[in-house]
This record gives sequence, structure tokens and C-alpha cells, in this order.
Amino acid sequence: MIGARGSVATTAVAGCAAMTAGLHAPTGMVTETAPFMDRGLPTLSSLVFGGHDTTSCPLPKRAEELAAGGVLPHGLPSAAHAELAAADAEIRPGGPQPGDARTDEELIDAFTADLRDFVRRRGLARAVVVNVASTEPLPADGAERLPASSLYAAAALRAGCPYVNFTPSSGLHHPHLTETARASGLPYAGRDGKTGQTLLRSVLGPMFAQRALAVRAWSGTNLLGGGDGAALADPAAAAAKNAGKERVLADTLGSAPEGEVHIDDVPSLGDWKTAWDHIAFDGFLGTRMVLQTTWQGCDSALAAPLILDLARLTSRAHERGLSGPLPDLAFYFKDPDAGAPAALGEQYAALVDFAERLGGGPAPTGRGGGGPESGPSAGGSA
Ligand SMILES: NC(=O)c1ccc[n+]([C@@H]2O[C@H](COP(=O)([O-])OP(=O)(O)OC[C@H]3O[C@@H](n4cnc5c(N)ncnc54)[C@H](O)[C@@H]3O)[C@@H](O)[C@H]2O)c1
Repeated sequence: MIGARGSVATTAVAGCAAMTAGLHAPTGMVTETAPFMDRGLPTLSSLVFGGHDTTSCPLPKRAEELAAGGVLPHGLPSAAHAELAAADAEIRPGGPQPGDARTDEELIDAFTADLRDFVRRRGLARAVVVNVASTEPLPADGAERLPASSLYAAAALRAGCPYVNFTPSSGLHHPHLTETARASGLPYAGRDGKTGQTLLRSVLGPMFAQRALAVRAWSGTNLLGGGDGAALADPAAAAAKNAGKERVLADTLGSAPEGEVHIDDVPSLGDWKTAWDHIAFDGFLGTRMVLQTTWQGCDSALAAPLILDLARLTSRAHERGLSGPLPDLAFYFKDPDAGAPAALGEQYAALVDFAERLGGGPAPTGRGGGGPESGPSAGGSA
């Protein structure tokens, strides 16, 4: 994981340990439901975590902080201490750090070497690179250097790893990487996880359209704190996020309605987000009506199971030899790959179809790199 010491990453590692130990049910994990059984996805117990981060706060301490904020259940940081410490030992310094004099090429090389080393030392069948780092501002036109998210994405391709972008940052979408991605022969998916306000919009937008109700304006406000709230206080980073939220409406309603989305950083809310939508619409004979929704979610608890789902699905896609963008995973993203439907119901149908195509066969259980004891499809990592 890129951003492996952040809230989402920490919750994913602690949550995977909790489910594996039978301490918590897999609530929120789509890949633990019936249509995804017997599709050969790597088991949760076979996942090995590692990654990059620019901060040095150890994962067990980060988990304690999240438990104090009510994000993780009380007692989980100590129950999952061994798994958190093991993942922490696999986190390498991210970049570029302030004053980092390395060129783009040197940074890509360093990240590639870390990924290859992780796979080799741990004897993994494959590694999936998942970007859960802080949202970057939109890259300036004509900027000479690649944004950090694109450096990591380039390293993933160079190391032969499938790539998932859970953030609105450029990642593989950077024009300098389009050709490399196409030629890589690797599967990749993105971008920006759909966990709250946009999830709701992708259900409600089609409802208005199908009922022939005329949406006049759709306005939204988000209040959140935590690292994500702080990063999105930068208007350039918020612009990257809001573009995805607004696109869902244009795609499901046929045109963008009046109204904007705002993101306010409220540090005392921590990871708890309130998203309010106000939808003004016309009914029969032009009768004016309003729907208001208030979503109060814990961002990391919503995102973490999706990270595990995406790692498992992309790992299996790689094992099956799939390559290129995976629009079938649009169910998970605000700004999915071209060719994906925009309505959540259709996205879910496409996902179930995709799982069927991933094929049957026993789920891999071991961690070996394809040796005789571990079986050819063993191992998986995020
Ligand atoms: N529901 C959700 O939580 C949700 C939904 C969609 C998208 N996202 C995105 O997921 C990302 C993570 O969210 P979070 O709440 O965990 O944020 P966070 O601030 O807690 O964690 C981000 C981590 O990224 C690290 N980081 C920053 N720059 C880096 C770099 N160059 N290299 C390596 N690491 C770097 C930070 O040190 C931090 O540990 C954000 O971009 C957010 O927008 C989250």
C-alpha cells in the first residue's frame, strides 16, 4: 500500500487480522458474499501487507490512535499487534521527502527495488500495489516532474505488479504513463474509492432518471477531519475529489445539474464524515420537491473492506492473465475506467459477471511463490 501508515491502510491491516482470527464478521466485504465464493480469490489469511509511507509513526501506534477515536474497536490494536508490527516491518520510506534530490527515474527505481525485494523475501506469488496515500493537488499544466502517485504507479508496472488507485490522484492516469500502462500486460483499476456521498449519488441519480423526475439542482457539503480532511483543505486537492463526485451526476442524469460540492476540514470530527446532499427536483406538472440526505460515516471503516476486496480481485485477475484497465470494478470507484456503467446496480451486475469470469477452482491458501507445497496460485499481497 502507498500511504501504508494512513487511516485506511491501518484499518485494512487490523481488520484483515480481526476477520482472520474470527474476532469480527466480514461486514462490508463484498468478496465475502455468495457470488464471490469459489472464484479462486486469495484467502484473507494469505494476504501479506507492506508498502511505502513518508511518515514514521509505527502501525501499532497508529492503530491505538484510531481506536481512541472510535474508528477501530477497543481492544483490536492489542489483539492485532503482531500483524500490525509485521506489516510495519515491511513499510519502506516513501518519497519524495522535502529536499529529496533524487530524480524521477531514481525514485521509480528505488520503489521498484523495494517491491521486488518484498515479493522475493516473502516468497509471494504476486503483489498488488494499492494507492491509499494522501490526495495530491491536480498536477499543474506543463509540470516537468511526475506527481508522487505516478512515480509509484510507474514503479508498480516496472516491478510487474497490478495497480489499484483508491485516490483521485493521477497515478496511472498521467499522460506520460498511458503507453507504458497499455504495454505492461498488467491489470489496473481506479480511481478514487466510492464509499459515501458518491455511493449514494450513484443510486439516487438513476432513480430520478428512471422515474422521469427532473433534477434542477444537486448541492452537497462534506464535513470531515483526519488526514484526509487536512489534505482536502487544499482547494487543489479538493478539486480533484469533487470532479469525481460531480461526474457521477452528469453520467447518471444525462447532464450536470446546477449545484456544487464543498469539502470542509473539521479536525475535531476525525475520521467521521457528515455528507449532506440537497436535491431540488420537479415532479408531475412542474411540482417542486426536495430530497435531503445526511450520511454520517466512518471513512476508514467504509474504505478498508474495499481495499481488501480490490486487492483480492486484482490479484486473481493477474493470476488469470487479464491485462489493461478493469472497468468491471467500477462498483468501487467514483471515476471508473472508460466503458463502465455509471449506475451502482449495473456496476454490481458487471462485478458479479467479472467474478464469474475469474473462474472457479480452490481458493489459494498458502504464502509460497508457487512451490509444490503451496500450489500454483498460492499467495497474494496488498
Ligand atoms: N472513505 C475513505 O476513506 C476514502 C474514500 C475514497 C478515497 N479515499 C482516499 O484514500 C486516501 C487515504 O485516506 P486516509 O484517510 O487513510 O488518509 P491519511 O491521511 O490517514 O493517510 C494518508 C497516508 O499517506 C501518506 N503519504 C503522503 N504522501 C505520501 C507519499 N508521497 N508516499 C507515501 N505515503 C505518503 C501519509 O503520510 C499518510 O500516512 C486519501 O487520498 C483519500 O482521499 C478515502
